[in-house]
Amino acid sequence: MMGPSFQRKSLSRSVGKPQNGSAKTAKSDTRLLDAEQFLLPTYKRRPVVMTHGRGPYVYDAAGKKYLDFLGGIAVNALGHAHTRIVKVIRREAARAIHLSNLYHNAYQGPLARKLAGWSGMDRVFFSNSGTEAIDGAMKLARLFGRHSNEVAGMAAKKHRFLALENSFHGRTFGAISVTSTEKYRLPFAPVVPGAEFVRFNDVADLEAKFDDTVCASFWKPSRAKAGSMRSANFSGIALARLPRSTALS
Ligand SMILES: Cc1ncc(COP(=O)(O)O)c(C=O)c1O
Repeated sequence: MMGPSFQRKSLSRSVGKPQNGSAKTAKSDTRLLDAEQFLLPTYKRRPVVMTHGRGPYVYDAAGKKYLDFLGGIAVNALGHAHTRIVKVIRREAARAIHLSNLYHNAYQGPLARKLAGWSGMDRVFFSNSGTEAIDGAMKLARLFGRHSNEVAGMAAKKHRFLALENSFHGRTFGAISVTSTEKYRLPFAPVVPGAEFVRFNDVADLEAKFDDTVCASFWKPSRAKAGSMRSANFSGIALARLPRSTALS
């Protein structure tokens, strides 16, 4: 899939040649060598092969135990290998791995009802990742912001997105378009047009950029890769003072 120049560059970056002697160092681990040679280098990974987890701990191939502060980047809220979760996944894998969106299954409707009840929202969209959730929200907002007399294929009046400076939302095109950090966005330009970034806790900047051409704004209280900063109820205060023109926030 990659062109010859990419392959040459990738292969020339050796992680270390297999060493003499029987001691298997991390750098001579064939799993690391395979990853170095064949994986697209989208992430800088530590030279450690993790094998399993139990509750709040994870273990590497040498049996070393770590307290898992990362939690799969804040998604393993219930810890690793919880017996009830393992039991349900085993049971369902034996029933059907995938049934597509073309049919109903026994779980999506009832789960959507629960989520709608807990969140106070009307409907649920299931996606596979955080970045898809952002892309789905962006598309929904553009659709919602479109009037019936606007021409398909042309930008609707209400089409702009606002997001915070120093934010991160994922790696799909939509998500990088509303991600202010340039190293994630600029190499892929031109990205989805219509996004602007607001300075953190700067209500005047928000008011200057927010008008009835905005279809959605993205404010995250915890911004993972971008870190967590204390917001003096920035979005709540500011949005309450502005005209109600956002579909989602
Ligand atoms: C703050 C934030 N939003 C969104 C995402 C994207 O989530 P996902 O990796 O599930 O696409 C991440 C991923 O690191 C994140 O840190």
